[in-house]
Amino acid sequence: VVGPNEGDMACGEYGPGRMSEPQEIFAAIAALLKDGPLKGKRAIVTAGPTVESIDPVRFLSNRSSGKQGYAIASALAQAGADVTLVSGPTALAAPLGVTLVRVESARQMLAACQAALPVDAAVMVAAVADWRPAAPAGEKIKKGAAGPSALALEENPDILATLSKPGKKRPRLVIGFAAETEKLEEHARAKIAKKGCDWIIANDVSGAVMGGDHNQVLLISEDGAESSPLMGKDEVAQKLAAKQAQALSAKGAGRG
Ligand code: C5P
Repeated sequence: VVGPNEGDMACGEYGPGRMSEPQEIFAAIAALLKDGPLKGKRAIVTAGPTVESIDPVRFLSNRSSGKQGYAIASALAQAGADVTLVSGPTALAAPLGVTLVRVESARQMLAACQAALPVDAAVMVAAVADWRPAAPAGEKIKKGAAGPSALALEENPDILATLSKPGKKRPRLVIGFAAETEKLEEHARAKIAKKGCDWIIANDVSGAVMGGDHNQVLLISEDGAESSPLMGKDEVAQKLAAKQAQALSAKGAGRG
């Protein structure tokens, strides 16, 4: 069943009663038929924020909506791939034809990715929290007369760098994202070297990218840099899926 979508209806009411857009229905069918240039290939996509507990009611997180990662998982499935989407908490519906694994913390996200290996491609889109509270409290922290105490943090594992490590289980193609506001290419190239991944999609987040429906990306690989105009996140996802299909059908793609 595809839809119904929420919105304005002909009767003048608002709610979940609209026919899904033809493009959405087509995408859902394509994802379920699994017949496209990525048929027989497996992929992991991470998306959304991670949530790191301070105590049972409080947490550290970020504003990632998960839209770009969900669009990428959906586009890969439409291209025929068997996709596991490992997602932090988002308000988005599970894309059809994709196995969705919901997690909260960075450590859970890493474990879920490792459990989904081996795959041909890993696309790490999640905005993983860099740090987590070092000692989350078992009970709600009370407001004390002494005022707030300092919050000790420790570093989270880097999922992209971990999956990029050479070895038998390394996906042939490991792709990371880099949110930048300046010197996109320079920073993205440095990130490829630091993380050991194959491609970096650098996005200029100086505009309304976070949480919005559009993205402007620059794809950096060994072959060079390919910039795209401002596009819908779905379109970015479809282009990226086509590019991955091309790379995975070429012999010896990636470092894995
Ligand atoms: O280091 P930075 O956060 O800028 O790198 C961004 C890329 O690394 C993204 O692809 C993100 O999904 C990934 N990442 C990760 N695990 C982390 C931090 C970032 O997979 N702990």
